[in-house]
Amino acid sequence: MESYNKACFQAALEGAVLLENHGSLPFRKGEKVALFGREPFEYQKSGSGSGGDVRSPYVTDIHDELKEKVVLDEEVTNFYADFIKANPFDWNGGWLTPTVQKQPMIEESLVERAAARNDIAMVILERVYGESFDQAEKKGEWYLSDAEEDLFQKLSRHFRHIVVLLNIGNPMDLSFLKRYPAIDSLLIVWQGGMEGGKAAASLLMGEAAPSGKLPITLTKSIHAYEHVPFGSYETNLHEEDIYVGYRYFDTFAPEEVLYPFGFGLSYTKFAISYQNGGWDGDHFKANVLVKNTGSVAGKEVVQLYTEAPQGDLEEPKRVLVGFQKTKLLAPGESETLTLSLPLRVFARFDDRDDSKFAHSFVLEKGTYRLCLGGDVREAKECDSFLIPETKLIERLSAAARPEAEFDVLSQHGKRHIGVGPRVKLPEMPAIPYTGDKGYTFQDVRNGAHSLKEFIGQFNVEELAPMTIGEGWNSPKASVPNSAAVYGGNLEPLTSKGVEIVTCCDGPSGLRAKDERTHIAIPVGVCLAATFNPSLADALADTVYQDLKEAKVYCLLGPGINIMRHPFGGRNFEYFSEDPLLAGTMASAYVNAYAKHGIAACIKHFAVNSQETERYYENEVLSERALREIFLIPFEMAAKTGNLHAVMTSYNEVNGRHSGSNAELVNVILRQEWGYQGLVMTDWGCRVDTTLPKDEKPIEIDRYSSTLAAGVDIYMVQTDPVKPAQGIIKDVKEGRLDFAVLQQAAYHLLDSVLFLQGPRD
Ligand code: BGC
Repeated sequence: MESYNKACFQAALEGAVLLENHGSLPFRKGEKVALFGREPFEYQKSGSGSGGDVRSPYVTDIHDELKEKVVLDEEVTNFYADFIKANPFDWNGGWLTPTVQKQPMIEESLVERAAARNDIAMVILERVYGESFDQAEKKGEWYLSDAEEDLFQKLSRHFRHIVVLLNIGNPMDLSFLKRYPAIDSLLIVWQGGMEGGKAAASLLMGEAAPSGKLPITLTKSIHAYEHVPFGSYETNLHEEDIYVGYRYFDTFAPEEVLYPFGFGLSYTKFAISYQNGGWDGDHFKANVLVKNTGSVAGKEVVQLYTEAPQGDLEEPKRVLVGFQKTKLLAPGESETLTLSLPLRVFARFDDRDDSKFAHSFVLEKGTYRLCLGGDVREAKECDSFLIPETKLIERLSAAARPEAEFDVLSQHGKRHIGVGPRVKLPEMPAIPYTGDKGYTFQDVRNGAHSLKEFIGQFNVEELAPMTIGEGWNSPKASVPNSAAVYGGNLEPLTSKGVEIVTCCDGPSGLRAKDERTHIAIPVGVCLAATFNPSLADALADTVYQDLKEAKVYCLLGPGINIMRHPFGGRNFEYFSEDPLLAGTMASAYVNAYAKHGIAACIKHFAVNSQETERYYENEVLSERALREIFLIPFEMAAKTGNLHAVMTSYNEVNGRHSGSNAELVNVILRQEWGYQGLVMTDWGCRVDTTLPKDEKPIEIDRYSSTLAAGVDIYMVQTDPVKPAQGIIKDVKEGRLDFAVLQQAAYHLLDSVLFLQGPRD
């Protein structure tokens, strides 16, 4: 029997990114290694907060996993083991774990003795950030701590070979590589869940070759991000516009890049050659041959970027349009991959009011070059196609446009973002009210009555409480420490047979405090670094075992926001700075959970890029940046057809809190993308209570304002009945249409119908 979780192990293994290797890796069996720091004993499986707090049966650590495979220096190991005994790991109650744990200063003489006995010194750097906690530009966070700097200085004086592992979820400053040239190998193992230590050790030993690629750009310095206004308590104006991550660096500042997006080494080499390509309907199919030309087995990621024409809408230098990972290729073995690129990945959003294609996705005329390779920088032109005339791909709207004018970065100096008319909000269709007809939810499940007929039985007093989630830790939940329950938690839904749904975090496994332990999978950024969406099925299968036991049918994750800045506290639980990569991963996880009848709730819709003042701050951005960068992962997940739950973000998007942002939810998500599933707010979010109605804003209850935006459940209240009174009053006094409440009930119950679990 397997004594480890294979799915978690494989994902952690495939996510690790080898950035440098000048010969120290892999270790040989029996190699003499001095393992410095407390970190080898304390592998960090995740970041902190709701995206990480999973009580797993164990967490593999690198010291234990290595000790049988290499000869670890005893004196060094004992020194740190003693230090840990005297300074145990500080959990800080399991929520805001310190970024770095207390670290000792080591005596130089100990380092000197170790260098005389060992060839290699290994150091693991760890950083933990999370919910409500952004990274700061200071020692022990972005920079090395004093103890880490001191350790590298001493090691450099005595060791010729230093191997560094980064057990992190956010990028950190890497300028120390230049200061300490003895560091000859650098491997990011991210926060790889409970099997992360085992996977790291396996890679260190060469039992597998690293195959992860960077889902973010790593820069030489944090000053490379000075063009990104970040961290304001009030307004974060996206002056960088569409130039997020490599889109900026490749276009404007290639010299700032230390390791480009998509980069990652292996222990073997691959030859990637373009075979042929062409349009097949609305997909460009590219056949690519990959051959393992090295001496050990490995996997490679093929990446295709486009260099689009600089037409009326300017373009970043390169944009990722497709990627695929090979199977495990033995030395000499080849595989032909067919990358299928939908037309839409080449389209751009035209946000100019005076354009023929205003507020639409278009394909601009001109030559599109395709570049193939291992990372954004190294990719070489392999094909091209011509679009003779600018084509309309999808006519959309100016929904969620900015409220005030501003300028953003452009290759022609500045681009002016103007203001213009707001979109018309859709009317909600009413369901005829019938009063109680005796229809049960079972009748709906077996097709005897429609969901509309079922909902038609309820009046405003009965429907309103249903739109407020009950939590935290509701006694009605199937498991302690759940985030919320909804559905059949209240009368008359309970007696009509609607099942109660328990929802729990989160993105890296089930976060609940029952007596069982739960599988902790690698964090989002690690999953994205695998560039392998096919791993989602096995991971969802293993997490599902916990969900089934705990009767949790709605899982609050994955987090799919774009990593806009290296300091974003929740970067670890998000996927990437690139929308296609993030959207591909998001879709894969939504689909994989849906196979088990689990609603994976994607979050946080939309533009959550920082934790500082997260309940209030306003993310101000152009429609183009919103549509082309920040919304794409959500759009891709919504369009899988398997999405049943979405969580809004805390922040405002262009002046309106997401949980009450009708243009974002009712227009973009529902009307334009066709999503009819459940939308819930984030827990205890702020909302706007003025409603733009008939040109004249009116004041409504906070829970009504959520509903008016197309958000079905406000999360959370201990007892939903009392707070629902405001909604009832608003409906009775004509400020909120009853139809809006009925639609919320429709989305909510429709998502309950999808869930498999309650029926088992
Ligand atoms: C977080 C969400 C989480 C929710 C429930 C909020 O504070 O922002 O991501 O799912 O709590 O735990």
